[in-house]
Amino acid sequence: MSDKAILEINGQKHEFPLITGTENEVAIDVKALRGSTGGVITLDPGYKNTGSCESAITFLDGEKGILRYRGYSIEELADKADFLEVAYLLIFGELPTAEQLDKFHADIKANSVVDDDIKKIIDAFPKAAHPMGVLSSLTSALTAFNPSSVNVDSEEDMYNAIVRILGKFPVLVAWAMRKKQGLPLDYGDDSLGYVENVLKMMFKSPNKEYEQNEILVNALDKLLILHADHEQNCSTSTVRITGSSHAGLFVSLAAGISALWGPLHGGANQAVLEMLEAIKEDGGDTKKYMAKAKDKNDPFRLMGFGHRVYKNFDPRAKIIKVAADEVLSDLGVEDPILDIAKGLEKEALEDQYFVDRKLYPNVDFYSGIIYRAMGIPVEMFTVMFALGRLPGWIAQWKEMRLRKEPIGRPRQLYTGETLRSFTPIKKR
Ligand code: SDX
Repeated sequence: MSDKAILEINGQKHEFPLITGTENEVAIDVKALRGSTGGVITLDPGYKNTGSCESAITFLDGEKGILRYRGYSIEELADKADFLEVAYLLIFGELPTAEQLDKFHADIKANSVVDDDIKKIIDAFPKAAHPMGVLSSLTSALTAFNPSSVNVDSEEDMYNAIVRILGKFPVLVAWAMRKKQGLPLDYGDDSLGYVENVLKMMFKSPNKEYEQNEILVNALDKLLILHADHEQNCSTSTVRITGSSHAGLFVSLAAGISALWGPLHGGANQAVLEMLEAIKEDGGDTKKYMAKAKDKNDPFRLMGFGHRVYKNFDPRAKIIKVAADEVLSDLGVEDPILDIAKGLEKEALEDQYFVDRKLYPNVDFYSGIIYRAMGIPVEMFTVMFALGRLPGWIAQWKEMRLRKEPIGRPRQLYTGETLRSFTPIKKR
């Protein structure tokens, strides 16, 4: 393949270098485009064809349904690693030794207390507040109790900010859930593993001992791994562009949480359950919802289906679908919603509209079924997505800052009014 691209504009040829990544993806380097063409830019709403950065963290191939974190396949990591190992891998680039992992976990535990004044902030929220709004606010508020900026050139400062947020975030997740349930906001247990501690903080009843359930621990550990990173998705791009102004890590994460909340993105896992519940209420009439999803005049979309990058099965959806069966049978839970989901998936995979558009189940289609079986309220589903995505957001923010990338500031194509004179209000 040639190492340059040639663009001809008004009879003049312009050459731009081609860059090839380690997985043989090719990009046209257009950094010099505007300058060398007298102002011509590219236009690509939603960035469907535009790379925002080079990155060494996650590789995915949407056509082949491949997902790897730092070169390790998602299938191997979901099967053999635990969430904290994967968090370390994403953030620092290598799987930790046992000693490194123990120190990482110990440092996280040492930072897992949240200033009690944060409780005054959470008390101010109505019980009806959506936990994603609470979580984004509290994550931003953490800045008020911790250094607002991070000296990324200092390895120690960067490391301290990372273990601080990994220690405090699960507390905020648990408090966001317990606030809605009117339960006391307390702390975890330093003797437990990371995921065990999350479950205990979320589910511990004030009047009895909490008993760990290995099925729930393993299910949540796997779900968090599967959600841990996904290259330049909407919320990760938000974290990167917010951090590119040199805003602090915590407020960049708060911006990412807000972006994740949208039903077209992480909010889809809640929307999937609500859709499946509606179908169940409708007597299981999946055909009606399929017709709605295909009706251009109907804004309804089949939630949990389709993906900007995957034009094949989302590899995470395949793993979660198997896990859903296992968790429900291990827990002895019969959930008609799972049968409706499987029926809907079968119908969609055989429907020409979905086949033509390469719409397959994505990570959100089955995850909510497991969360529900675990007793997690549906409004907390996207919060669990954020808990999983936290190490990916951190890794991407750190990579962007360490590479000293410029502030993100896209161009636009102006299509508004040309110059005109002001008309005094008496003459309008
Ligand atoms: C996540 O990017 C990531 O990596 C995200 C994520 C991550 O880990 O960070 O993977 C997590 O966000 C998964 C996606 C969760 N969202 C949903 O499940 C919501 C439902 N899905 C869609 O809204 C949609 O598929 C998107 C938003 C996910 C992707 O939309 P695109 O890439 O912008 O595609 P598009 O809107 O251009 O759709 C192409 C065609 C259109 O039809 P035509 O105009 O060509 O006739 O497909 C149709 C769309 O109408 N279409 C759907 C559909 N998704 C796309 N039609 C019905 N139901 C759907 N779900």
